[in-house]
Amino acid sequence: MLPTRKFDVLVLGSGAAGMTAALHLADHYRVALLSKSNLGQGSSRWAQGGIAAVYDPEDTQEAHVEDTLIAGAGLCHRDTVEQVVGESRDAIDWLIHQGVPFTQDSGSKDTYHLTREGGHRNRRILHAEDATGQAIIDTLAARVAAHEQIEVFDQYLAIDLITRHKLGLAGQACVGVYALDSQSGQVQPFTAPAVILATGGASKVYLYTSNPDGSSGDGIAMAWRAGCRVANMEFNQFHPTCLYHPQAKSFLISEALRGEGARLLLPNGQPFMQQFDERAELAPRDIVARAIDHEMKRLGLDHVYLDISHKPADFIQSHFPTIYKRCLEFGIDITRDPLPVVPAAHYTCGGIVTNHRGETDIPGLYAIGECAFTGLHGANRMASNSLLECVVYGRLAAEDLLNRSLTQESLPEPPAWDESQVTDSDEDVVISHNWDEIRRFMWDYVGIVRTDKRLERASHRIRLLQTEIHDYYSNYRISGDLLELRNLATVAELIIQSAQLRKESRGLHFTLDYPKMAPEARDTLLTPPRW
Ligand code: FAD
Ligand code: SIN
Repeated sequence: MLPTRKFDVLVLGSGAAGMTAALHLADHYRVALLSKSNLGQGSSRWAQGGIAAVYDPEDTQEAHVEDTLIAGAGLCHRDTVEQVVGESRDAIDWLIHQGVPFTQDSGSKDTYHLTREGGHRNRRILHAEDATGQAIIDTLAARVAAHEQIEVFDQYLAIDLITRHKLGLAGQACVGVYALDSQSGQVQPFTAPAVILATGGASKVYLYTSNPDGSSGDGIAMAWRAGCRVANMEFNQFHPTCLYHPQAKSFLISEALRGEGARLLLPNGQPFMQQFDERAELAPRDIVARAIDHEMKRLGLDHVYLDISHKPADFIQSHFPTIYKRCLEFGIDITRDPLPVVPAAHYTCGGIVTNHRGETDIPGLYAIGECAFTGLHGANRMASNSLLECVVYGRLAAEDLLNRSLTQESLPEPPAWDESQVTDSDEDVVISHNWDEIRRFMWDYVGIVRTDKRLERASHRIRLLQTEIHDYYSNYRISGDLLELRNLATVAELIIQSAQLRKESRGLHFTLDYPKMAPEARDTLLTPPRW
């Protein structure tokens, strides 16, 4: 094991949430920014549609709050929604100040172009063409790289949190993390008086997903193992429109296309959304994804179509240049033809329970961004509220730490990583097999439409796999794939347990056995065994 590295704050994850927190902290504290990939690789970079905020003079914060509450199907925490919406303008101003090149209205240097997405009654989405995430991440990454007080550790995969308890000290506070240096294969302990989890979501638990590699719920699983509660893990958002093409791995077709008038069609050209919801293509995502799933099952289809070809070609090319070019690579000209689309797992609405400053149940441990549960999204996240949550909570968590004067305690060395009984595995196929199996049964049994029987099947499968994975983990040398598999299995179990506890259909959780919404809205809280 490598010698311990000490910092004031450890930030795990360099997406929008992690980099925002690191930049707010770095003028005052020495920050280590760890990512299991390279700086800025994660879902944030892939965000297309944009970031929601009240910028239109005709729009109001009350309307943004109400739309979020409606999309969340009665389960959002109003206080959190009001807090985040209230901070939205400052969040955007901060991004602009960092240099994010949001698209401006044509002919004006003072106003930003606002697009529309599902659930929003007004135009409220700031964007950088159709590659908003890339613009935000490139800007923040340049700032991070230039900051002397931030040390970037790329290719460091956080394995488990170090608590005082693990060091034989009184108290449960988090004081660090063990991380795998993927280049050298060695385990590196880091310690600090504060640790921020910004490790993103867990949509890789499903076979088909819009997420890039790495969304394996590591932070959620680590926090759970360390003793944090998680909430509402059953609410997995399926984005209605990912490109259906054998070579297009997880390519999202932004909801902003529907915001600008694209229609969903059956193969015979017939629109169908109006039969499901009067808001049609701009209904919240859970409704649109379920409607597509329904039509695909009813007609035995592999996909439906999304059509924006009635708009002028130059409008499409200028508003959606990334999507236009990517589809052309697959032989689809969206200025002329409808494109084949299917729903795919997109966003983890539940996560690690946090308060209004991003604090978790464990002192010194914060969680922000997609890995956190703040109460903002309820039973269904409204489009473009996620990047907003990352930037708002990145700052709130940092401010909380700036208000405390962090002091370095002299800690005993973390116990050496025990490799005494660990041998190199000659059976990596076990990892890839179990990985595929989890993702497939989660898709089939814990997907868009659920039943008690399917959940029971999934629960049985995950219990067997957990035993096998635990055995494998205890006996073989760790690797990135094994660590992600272990986390994925934990998250799958948390999702299944939460889904089994919810005896109603609400938002993204739809079960044929309890098709109605219960009169009272309740969060599903899971508490780890040791509590
Ligand atoms: P991420 O950006 O996913 O970053 C996670 C970071 O954690 C990465 O750096 C990763 O390497 C690191 N990490 C993970 N595990 C470990 C570990 N064990 N050790 C060390 N590092 C680790 N939301 C919107 O609001 N608007 C949009 O337009 C939008 N479009 C989207 C389009 C796509 C295709 C996708 C996938 C998502 C989209 N979303 C959108 C959702 C939004 O992008 C994400 O929810 C948000 O960016 C999550 O940010 P994050 O910082 O929490 O995590
Ligand atoms: C999209 O552009 O459709 C994604 C927006 C989001 O996930 O918020």
